[in-house]
Amino acid sequence: MTEPLRSPIGTHDVLPPESGQFVQATGTFVEMARCAGYGLAVTPMFEHLEVFQRVGASTDVVRKEMYTFEDRGGRSLALRPEGTAGIVRSYVQHRPLLPWKVCYVAPNFRYERPQKGRYRQHWQLGVEALGLDDPAIDVEVIALANRFFAAMGIDDVQLRINSMGDPTTRPAYRAALVEHFRATIPSPSEAVAELLVANPLRLLDSKDPSLSEAIKSAPALVDYLSDVAGAHFEAVQAGLQRLNISFSLDARLVRGFDYYTGTTFEFSSPRLDAAQDAIGGGGRYDGLAEAMGGPATPGIGFGIGLERLVLATPPAPTASGIEVFVVSMLEDDWFATELVEQLRTAGIACERSFGARSLKSQWKLADRSKAPVAVMLAPSEFERNAIVVKQMATGEQREVTLPALQSYLEELRK
Ligand code: HAM
Repeated sequence: MTEPLRSPIGTHDVLPPESGQFVQATGTFVEMARCAGYGLAVTPMFEHLEVFQRVGASTDVVRKEMYTFEDRGGRSLALRPEGTAGIVRSYVQHRPLLPWKVCYVAPNFRYERPQKGRYRQHWQLGVEALGLDDPAIDVEVIALANRFFAAMGIDDVQLRINSMGDPTTRPAYRAALVEHFRATIPSPSEAVAELLVANPLRLLDSKDPSLSEAIKSAPALVDYLSDVAGAHFEAVQAGLQRLNISFSLDARLVRGFDYYTGTTFEFSSPRLDAAQDAIGGGGRYDGLAEAMGGPATPGIGFGIGLERLVLATPPAPTASGIEVFVVSMLEDDWFATELVEQLRTAGIACERSFGARSLKSQWKLADRSKAPVAVMLAPSEFERNAIVVKQMATGEQREVTLPALQSYLEELRK
């Protein structure tokens, strides 16, 4: 016998009824983003490899986790590992009027070690705002994510913020950090030595216990901010306070992409496993458009992990959403087809059985559908142009004329 096929490791199927949470979350997100002026942008799932390489050569996701391939035309392509690069590429290509505010709902691919909350394909709900360096846009972006978590019933997210400074800040801080790590870790492992050269900031979020003391005593980037970067960061904090958004300053918050400049932030949830409790994160990337061959354009955004969001969301009732189940004993089976078509056109969610089933098995299916109401097409009532409507919870039945059916069902809904 042929072995049944399975999905690739690190991927999973999202099926009903759980997929209802995906629908609800994405619908709520896109609507909340629209209310804040962010229109939906849909960019390709794969891009020229170079698009992601411009994100920064020492970014782990780019160096070690990308799904890259050559197409039949010999082009080097990669499945998108994150959303920002494709949006910025799209901006550079189309040059829309600024400010440009977009949102997205998209799958991303990373060759990671799979575990609960960490997958090789994950979805992100994100926004990007290009063309603004006003601290008010940093606050707007953070406030949108915060409002969305609240709308999803996740009321215990923790927000940590940091600033990566600007191009004038970074070199001095980097030098101080390297000096600190060289002094406190005289014989670093190969991996640490490599990072000290490539991206010493990444050492700050290392989980390696032998580094914990050195990390604790490391200089903080916020102490090295230029006047301009410092004032910007202060203003972002003032704005968050003004909106009553709680946050903590975290000098060790280093996000995984090299493109970050200025404000960075991460939302974590105590409902997720500690090793991957980041439910969303983002920040400024004021140099990215230029790195992609476009004009210098500031940008800020975030990505929220949809699977982690669902893991942290209080379980929703798993109703099918079906409102009416049509049971038919008529010989003319097309009438059931006609009726469900009519009800669905009127926006009433309904289901029926297929394949000339017995009455008993149709009622079983009606039960299983969890529809609160069933309508029964029986020859005797049908002759009188009527139909029986049954409320499943109470068993109460009522005969309704066919022309009055739709408004009666709408009445029951209230
Ligand atoms: P990120 O922190 O890599 O940022 O991902 C954003 C969120 O996606 C994470 O907080 C997490 O919830 C989720 N996520 C990431 N990797 C996985 C995975 N392997 N499995 C499940 N969930 C995952 C970005 O991707 C940036 N593009 C965010 C951004 C937008 N920055 C500026 N604009």
